[in-house]
Amino acid sequence: MSLPTAGLPADRILDDLRALRAGDLPTHGGRTLAYVYDSGLSGLDELAAGAHALASSTNGLDPTAFPSLLRMENDIVAAASALLGGGPATVGTVTSGGTESCMLAVHAARASRGDVTRPRIVVPSTAHAAFHKAAHYFHVEVATVPVSPDTFTADPEAMAAAIDDRTVLVVVSAPSYAHGVVDPVVPVAAAARERGVRCHVDACIGGWVLPYFRALGEDVPDFDLSVPGVTSLSVDLHKYAYCPKGTSVLLHADADLRRPQFFASASWPGYTMLNSTLQSTRSGGPLAAAWAVLNHLGDDGYRSLASTVLSATRTLRAGIATMDGLRLQGDPRSTLLSVAADADDFDVFTVADEMTERGWYLQPQFGFESSAPNLHLTVTAANHGTEELLLADLAAAVASARRSGPVTMGPEVTSTIAGLDPAELTPEAFGALLAMAGMTKVAAPKRMAEVNAMLAVAPPPLRERLLVEFLSVLYTPGS
Ligand SMILES: Cc1ncc(COP(=O)(O)O)c(C=O)c1O
Repeated sequence: MSLPTAGLPADRILDDLRALRAGDLPTHGGRTLAYVYDSGLSGLDELAAGAHALASSTNGLDPTAFPSLLRMENDIVAAASALLGGGPATVGTVTSGGTESCMLAVHAARASRGDVTRPRIVVPSTAHAAFHKAAHYFHVEVATVPVSPDTFTADPEAMAAAIDDRTVLVVVSAPSYAHGVVDPVVPVAAAARERGVRCHVDACIGGWVLPYFRALGEDVPDFDLSVPGVTSLSVDLHKYAYCPKGTSVLLHADADLRRPQFFASASWPGYTMLNSTLQSTRSGGPLAAAWAVLNHLGDDGYRSLASTVLSATRTLRAGIATMDGLRLQGDPRSTLLSVAADADDFDVFTVADEMTERGWYLQPQFGFESSAPNLHLTVTAANHGTEELLLADLAAAVASARRSGPVTMGPEVTSTIAGLDPAELTPEAFGALLAMAGMTKVAAPKRMAEVNAMLAVAPPPLRERLLVEFLSVLYTPGS
């Protein structure tokens, strides 16, 4: 596509956009149980959109030029700190999302240890992939420590034993994305503190809901900045603070810990570049939208939303735990469920396809260490009221997957995949694999079980390589 010679009328463009959006997963109504967070409250989107529009042309690159942004960011950081055990010295930064917050935590830790030539971070094997991304970008080694095979929580002794003289950061999750379980933050943070090493709590997904769960009487293990040894914590506003996409908060226990995160350059003839995040020009839009949503909902609003999502999660959890053929992995403490097959006469990835047919999106997760192939459910407040419908459809999806039987792959497919070297994957070999998966072009097929089964037999480095190839073709105009 090239640009139209004469510009199109605004109405027509918005109609075209609506038509494009109709092909997307629904972002409201609780049918999409990953990627999106729906409060189910009316008026919130309009408020956020209005606030976004008021500030989207401002630039956080220079907070002295746009003091409104400075004020809103300090307000948001103060609110996050108050919710998450911060003290008078706590400072923070609003970033574009969880990955950026995690990357900045790694960057700050690495930059603070100029004495270490080959820095490494110690993470439980369930830590979010954002830490692997940070390690990749910033040339940091990752020491991955297996989690407990039954609970999927970090093993504090093994984490402590993995800390060495090159370790610049230890990471724990509250909760982990894959299983929704909260790591034992107290002993891990204590071990890090004893060795003089920073400890980051990744509360990107749970940070805005766990404190309210605790207030509602749930048994939530200590995980926040009040735990001795915790030096930083990330919490995403675009998750359970129900703000539009594009905001997360990275808190540091004090300004000295945060300082290495910042970047200044006077080594060129233009303005002195002074950045707190990975971005330089930063739209004030997401920040203003988040500030508006936080102030509109207030503490009472979040407590009420937490109570709603807790009820939905409990109902779904109980229904799945007793459903024939399915089992829950771990003991989830928040709003995330990991559902595995409890029998071998069907495939969970087929269940995902069957759910798609019934208008639900559940996210396939591959087997990893003791974690079986499973379906991930991010439950939000919008799931309240339709729990029984979801459970009935899930039971029907399992029955249907049982009728189809497990996905089987011919020996030639398995041996082709086994013979692929990720370092030498050619476009031709990739094309041949696509054909084996029954795909004539690179696009997500309607049913993914066969593709997922093929990806499941590929070891992670090959899977990564295949998916990079997939992305490369996908992001080619005209593909
Ligand atoms: C625990 C955890 N950390 C980090 C992230 C990354 O967040 P984002 O997708 O906003 O970059 C997520 C996303 O789900 C998460 O659950």
